[in-house]
Amino acid sequence: MDKKIKIGLIGLGTVGSGVFKTLKNFENIEIVKIAVKNINKKRDIEGLDSSIMTDDAYKIVNNPEIDIVAELIGGIEPAFDLISTAIKNGKHIVTANKELLAKRGEDIFKLAEEHNRVILYEAAIAGGIPIIMPVKTILAGNKITHIEAILNGTTNYILTKMDVQKASYADVLKEAQELGYAEADPTGDVEGFDAAYKIATLASITFHKRIDIQKVYREGITKIRAKDMEAANDLGYKIKLIASADIDENGNADVRVHPMLVSKKSTLAHIDYVTNAVMLKGHPVGSITLSGPGAGEFPTASSVVGDILAIAAEIGKTDYILPMMRCKHNSAANMLDISETTNKYYISIHAKNNKGVIGKIGTICADNDISLASIVQKCVSDDNTADITVITELVKEKNMQNAIRLIEADGNKVNNLIRVQV
Ligand code: HSE
Repeated sequence: MDKKIKIGLIGLGTVGSGVFKTLKNFENIEIVKIAVKNINKKRDIEGLDSSIMTDDAYKIVNNPEIDIVAELIGGIEPAFDLISTAIKNGKHIVTANKELLAKRGEDIFKLAEEHNRVILYEAAIAGGIPIIMPVKTILAGNKITHIEAILNGTTNYILTKMDVQKASYADVLKEAQELGYAEADPTGDVEGFDAAYKIATLASITFHKRIDIQKVYREGITKIRAKDMEAANDLGYKIKLIASADIDENGNADVRVHPMLVSKKSTLAHIDYVTNAVMLKGHPVGSITLSGPGAGEFPTASSVVGDILAIAAEIGKTDYILPMMRCKHNSAANMLDISETTNKYYISIHAKNNKGVIGKIGTICADNDISLASIVQKCVSDDNTADITVITELVKEKNMQNAIRLIEADGNKVNNLIRVQV
């Protein structure tokens, strides 16, 4: 039998445990060391040998025996320094660290190439859904120009529950936290940071351009109300947190994360609870959607283990492993600002029940070159106010923002402005 490939695991949390339990079944793999934060913590993991545990992750990255380091702790430091040290010491890397890839990807990929090592990160984007390897290999012949995806399970769970239970964001968040679906500090998920890191890396590999994470437009779900859900439903839509990326013929990239009204006829409208999905449009493949579990112990372990096995299969067989999986682009995309984009919008306006209110809204929109696709006022409330729901046709973001200012200056309150799937 070939020599066993030696693995060092950094992190034994949810993902790390799943990786350990799955890798145990592979005879060509040996986990030689596992680094954890708290070595005294009781862990109920069958077959875990405490003699291979350490609380010093540098014992892994500096261990000459280890071939592959799996970094499963997340965050920028110490993950960045550990990965850099491991690469310099000749190790290949498997990571699930989307934040590190989005913020420091350029540095670690350059370093990896200088040392002829690979970094694989299937688990970092959409957990158990195979997306990185397909884009880099079997879809390599495509020019992909559009991605539309649900990349965050926590927010998709909250939005689905709000829709099903007709409940408020705050109530569903509380319930999700009690059930362990949302973290105590949910900011990273609900404000769209997690999805932004993921779409930045996914856009980078599909467009072959570096994506500046600082220029990815980001809006979370905290302002979505049960009333928006209801209005969207009435008009044939669901509200989802969508991560999208587009590139035009001139290389201008529009990469963003924000809530979106998606047509009930589209696949993404039916991706519910913690499930993730990625829709890609390209030539010659056309449009494809991959969906599945975006997080969790075993789905994420599936991706980490797949990456480990892909590297392990080539170690010792060639001096330049997995050429298709390497990062080969260096030029940065010209990132479009959201103000330069064109979108359709849902606008919920709270107005006093005065004569001519709808007429004035229509005039402001017309003056700003905004054509309306639909306008709905269901009734007048007891306090003599009304909620007016507007859907626009395609209009410039700048014009829309200007119209919103004018609508508010006219004494109305804009409850919400949400972009609509095109
Ligand atoms: N926090 C992420 C989510 C999972 O809710 O989808 C890890 O990327």
